[in-house]
Amino acid sequence: MGVFTASDGYEPTGHEQVVFCQDKQSGLRAIIAIYSTALGPALGGTRFYPYASEEDAVRDALDLSRGMAYKNALAGLDLGGGKAVIWGDPDRDKSEPLLRAYGRFVESLGGRYYTACDVGTYVQDMDVIARETRFVTGRSEAHGGAGDSSVLTAYGVFQGMRAAAEHRWGTPTLAGRRVGIAGLGKVGKHLTRHLLDDGAQVVATDVSERALEWARTTYSQVDLVDDVTKLITSDIDVYAPCALGGALNDDTVALLRAKIVAGAANNQLAHPGIEKLLDERGILYAPDYVVNSGGVIQVADEIEGFNFDRAKSRASKIYDTTRQILELARDEGVPPAVAADRLAERRMADVGRLRTIRLPRER
Ligand SMILES: NC(=O)c1ccc[n+]([C@@H]2O[C@H](COP(=O)([O-])OP(=O)(O)OC[C@H]3O[C@@H](n4cnc5c(N)ncnc54)[C@H](O)[C@@H]3O)[C@@H](O)[C@H]2O)c1
Repeated sequence: MGVFTASDGYEPTGHEQVVFCQDKQSGLRAIIAIYSTALGPALGGTRFYPYASEEDAVRDALDLSRGMAYKNALAGLDLGGGKAVIWGDPDRDKSEPLLRAYGRFVESLGGRYYTACDVGTYVQDMDVIARETRFVTGRSEAHGGAGDSSVLTAYGVFQGMRAAAEHRWGTPTLAGRRVGIAGLGKVGKHLTRHLLDDGAQVVATDVSERALEWARTTYSQVDLVDDVTKLITSDIDVYAPCALGGALNDDTVALLRAKIVAGAANNQLAHPGIEKLLDERGILYAPDYVVNSGGVIQVADEIEGFNFDRAKSRASKIYDTTRQILELARDEGVPPAVAADRLAERRMADVGRLRTIRLPRER
């Protein structure tokens, strides 16, 4: 996968900067990828993962950082997109020296990149990294961090779902609708509460007995089904994938009875072309990276000194952004996923361009 040149059927990626960081002593092997700083410093988490090869690690860093640029742009943040990967097994390789070595590399970028938690890294790790760099978010509450981001992620998903309901049925409410949630984890639980408060019926599934038990004891009115196939073939109006990526593939889209898909899971479209399939079946898809941006809005707020009400107010705009995307998709005759990308690219170009208006302090 080339940054400058096409390779393996990939186009040149267009990233601004890709940094390889190595500290042999602690075993650190990290790649920090900055896709764009057009809107501000690049923000994106650090994934600690035992990739099968260096190429897989590079590809993930490049893909994820590009995704963050689009997500941050549509979240209305003055932040660009970046992401880092640490190549290794977090259970075996994570140590204080490794995390602090990584922190020093983040610091060396002088604020072009802010890091946060991702798969394999936790708030406690961010606190360690923060001993070496100022450019870190997702910290523990004891250190001024925002805490569990699933609260605003679920709130944002609910706002995006309301916008999709308005677009489809004319009213921004899920009252009287049947919503199927796949995954009653951190986000799925909060989403259940928002939906029940709004007057929706909820049907859900999870592979974890603990999650199902939570539903039985907390919300006995939630219908539980055995698996995702039973969920998507049941009589639901809205499908909310809140478990793993790739929830929308050729098979599931063919079976799906819902008229709207809006959920928290990242990378819901299993491969390019699924967005067209959804369109052809008349299923309105609220793009994942738009409706699940409440989490990044929450951690981004830490840069200013975390304020929950301010972050929540920003997350409530996910309603307007989703509406705008669905309207653009209808007007331009493209799937919402394509409209979302166009809107993100437009904001990066239009707002990014303003930096060409030179200020006195810039030389
Ligand atoms: N937490 C956030 O702030 C946030 C932000 C953006 C995106 N997301 C994405 O949203 C999704 C959910 O996040 P979370 O924080 O709630 O994660 P989580 O791990 O707390 O919950 C996921 C739940 O899905 C269940 N699950 C796994 N496989 C399943 C299957 N095949 N069928 C049914 N249930 C299954 C798990 O048992 C678990 O209860 C993830 O894809 C995550 O990447 C989360």
